[in-house]
Amino acid sequence: MVNFTLTFPAGFLWGAATAAHQVEGGSPPNTWAAWEQMPGRIHQNQRAGLACDWWGGRYAEDFDRAAALGHNAHRFSVEWSRIEPERGKFNAEAIAHYADMIAALRARHMEPLLTLHHFTDPLWIAGQGGWLNPDTAHRFARFAQIVAEELGGGVTMWCTVNEPMVYAMQGYLLGRFRPGEGSLGRALRVAEGLLRGHAAAYAAIKEVQPDAQIGLAKHQLSLLARRPSWLHGPARNLLRHVFNRALVEALLTGELRFLRRTVAVPEARGTLDWIGLNTYYRFVAGFNLLRPRQAFIEQTRPRHGLLGPAGTGEIWPEGVFEQIRWLAERTGKPIYVTEHGVPDADDALRPLVLVRGLRSVWDALNYNFPVKGYFHWTLADNFEWTEGYDPRFRFGLFACDPQTQVRTPRRSAELYGEVCAANALTMDMVRRYLPDEADALFPGVPVQRAVTLRPRS
Ligand code: FCB
Repeated sequence: MVNFTLTFPAGFLWGAATAAHQVEGGSPPNTWAAWEQMPGRIHQNQRAGLACDWWGGRYAEDFDRAAALGHNAHRFSVEWSRIEPERGKFNAEAIAHYADMIAALRARHMEPLLTLHHFTDPLWIAGQGGWLNPDTAHRFARFAQIVAEELGGGVTMWCTVNEPMVYAMQGYLLGRFRPGEGSLGRALRVAEGLLRGHAAAYAAIKEVQPDAQIGLAKHQLSLLARRPSWLHGPARNLLRHVFNRALVEALLTGELRFLRRTVAVPEARGTLDWIGLNTYYRFVAGFNLLRPRQAFIEQTRPRHGLLGPAGTGEIWPEGVFEQIRWLAERTGKPIYVTEHGVPDADDALRPLVLVRGLRSVWDALNYNFPVKGYFHWTLADNFEWTEGYDPRFRFGLFACDPQTQVRTPRRSAELYGEVCAANALTMDMVRRYLPDEADALFPGVPVQRAVTLRPRS
């Protein structure tokens, strides 16, 4: 029987991740609140409503919960449309609200990681063509500068943009986010706009705070090739390049290479102090001649494994290791897991996903990949974009009922809390939370296999 302790480095950041629109409530003047008004866009036409009522002040009690569970950091986002509801008009009350939130984190000894853009845009930005308009990158940089000036006293960890490829693809190719379009060309131009926005915001924040640590959160998909792989392997590679890699490479080289189009984005080169990894699922990729819009590439669910709810892929915590490895080898930058989690209202899978995900992080550390922190998605159930409050998409360590605002800890909250408090994952924890799986997950001590030495001639 093994009895290990997987210890994490001193100073490792442990926390949860949230996004303004998903937790704040109170209908800000942004694109998502507008999208929610359109029939047929969100699960059962739901609206974010009160969400977790963080705009009403309930962030404080949720930070208490996180702190009590040993979290020493928290990733959250500020809502651009509240801070700048009209072009060039900055709202002091909104800024004060976020200053209070940051002070509340500091008071609980939790390091804030502040995201500037998490899927929502002010309506006036949408009105000027959103990220297809080159001016938007400049407006975003101006916003970033104001936020850095006003809130930079309490923040040194900045995430400019959350999941630029998801924003671009969901909104402009797959039509699930606003504006609901279906054009690969426009999706790629939006991704380029976000990359320029990131670069401009990076420069603007550094002006204000030279020692700021600035990165972005990149969603990475684990991808298998459909069989036969001699036929479909290139489809997997193409999807992997466009979705996972092109933008990351542009941050290093200043060239954004999508399919046959290469665009010079020299301002993006070197604008990365760290990189954030968001990862959840594994898919199978292959060619399908009926999908001309998507460059004839199709992404499907594997047949086996731990399948997530419809529309998602296989839940694949080992992807955390795979993606850290690529990001670390390619960028050489410090890495934060800025999101990882599982939709699971009953908490039947989450302990397993947590243990496998954290083991992946620990494995990566043992390869000397510079992982600096882990932020579980998410603290409490919240408004899950197109899925709204669909019970199949509850990602919280805490259950949260948006009507009653009652929070209930899931067992995973306690398991994760033990890990955070100990800065380690132990076999004893695994046995208590996963009695049936523990021994299969961590079979005995590895045995050295015999190695036959061949005499050298
Ligand atoms: C990520 C998003 C986050 C949440 C999780 C489940 O792609 O960044 O807001 O929706 O998925």
